Amino acid sequence: DDAENEAQFQARIDAEEFIEPKDWMPEGYRKTLVRQMSQHAHSEIVGMLPEGNWVTRAPTLKRKMILVAKIQDEAGHGLYIYSGAETLGTSREQMVDDLHSGKAKYSTIFNYPTMTWADVGAVGWLVDGAAITNQIPLCRCSYGPYARAMIRVCKEESFHQRQGYESLLAMVKGTDAQKKMVQDAFDRLFWPSLMMFGPPDSDQPPSQNMKWKIKRFTNDELRQRFVDATIPQAEFLGLKIPEGVVWNEDTNHYDFPELDWDEFWAVVKGDGVCNDDRLNSRRKAIDEGAWVREAAEAYAEKQKIQQAA
Ligand code: ACO
Repeated sequence: DDAENEAQFQARIDAEEFIEPKDWMPEGYRKTLVRQMSQHAHSEIVGMLPEGNWVTRAPTLKRKMILVAKIQDEAGHGLYIYSGAETLGTSREQMVDDLHSGKAKYSTIFNYPTMTWADVGAVGWLVDGAAITNQIPLCRCSYGPYARAMIRVCKEESFHQRQGYESLLAMVKGTDAQKKMVQDAFDRLFWPSLMMFGPPDSDQPPSQNMKWKIKRFTNDELRQRFVDATIPQAEFLGLKIPEGVVWNEDTNHYDFPELDWDEFWAVVKGDGVCNDDRLNSRRKAIDEGAWVREAAEAYAEKQKIQQAA
């Protein structure tokens, strides 16, 4: 019965076994994973938009090639994670419909605009840096297909983080105007990148996700890890560190001020600067691509008939 199944399931999780698609799992586990994996996949896909905005304006051929490669990687991550989520019994079509109807979410960070070329570097450094911090522990997530997908995704994210940091490093060695641009990108994107880790632990009931080992660390633990790694990198770039961010000798961590959680929830609920723009772009892409899907289906149908003949 269910109680017995659930006890056995938890015992497998406690023994660090992976749960696979055909294994018994509690409905809540399945639902949580579909929610998280679909949101994650949507984030990868929507995350292509703020960067795609800069492909035609990349300052050199080299930068353009790197940017295009990175954006293609993000598309791959999205498709990879949608496939992983489909093993839980929800179709990709359903997940995409839920995104377009506003039912499913994607990361708040992609509702902030990329206004300058330095923003593109800062997205690589901060946004992909935060994504890696969050996703390395997901390589040990209890759901096998998700954990395995994360291994490759993290390797590619690591390249994304480095290319972003390297492009900012080039800019801070440049003119005063370039240095100012990097500082401005950091000042604007640092706080939203900390919000990527989700609401504070104090808002949360004891987490079922932790017990199921979907999550291995709390939102605040990962946020702190990211701040501790990022501030020395900002110092190396010669940037001015935001007010209130100070090294604490007693804790061996950086203290930082409370984030603007009202802003966070407003962006989650759809009131960010770019929410409408992002969703409209996705809806338009699906509508305008309909003829390609129809043509592919018609071609497949024709092949089938020819093979049968
Ligand atoms: N943006 C949008 N929604 C968020 C964010 C965020 N930055 N942080 C939390 N939320 C949502 C959660 O999805 C949840 O909403 P729901 O229950 O309505 O679906 C709600 O806020 C409460 O948050 P938590 O209880 O902390 O949610 P959860 O346990 O899922 O933790 C986290 C949130 C850390 C983002 C988790 O879902 C996760 O690790 N996701 C996988 C990684 C991911 O999505 N990365 C995208 C980043 S960008 C990229 O990879 C390209």
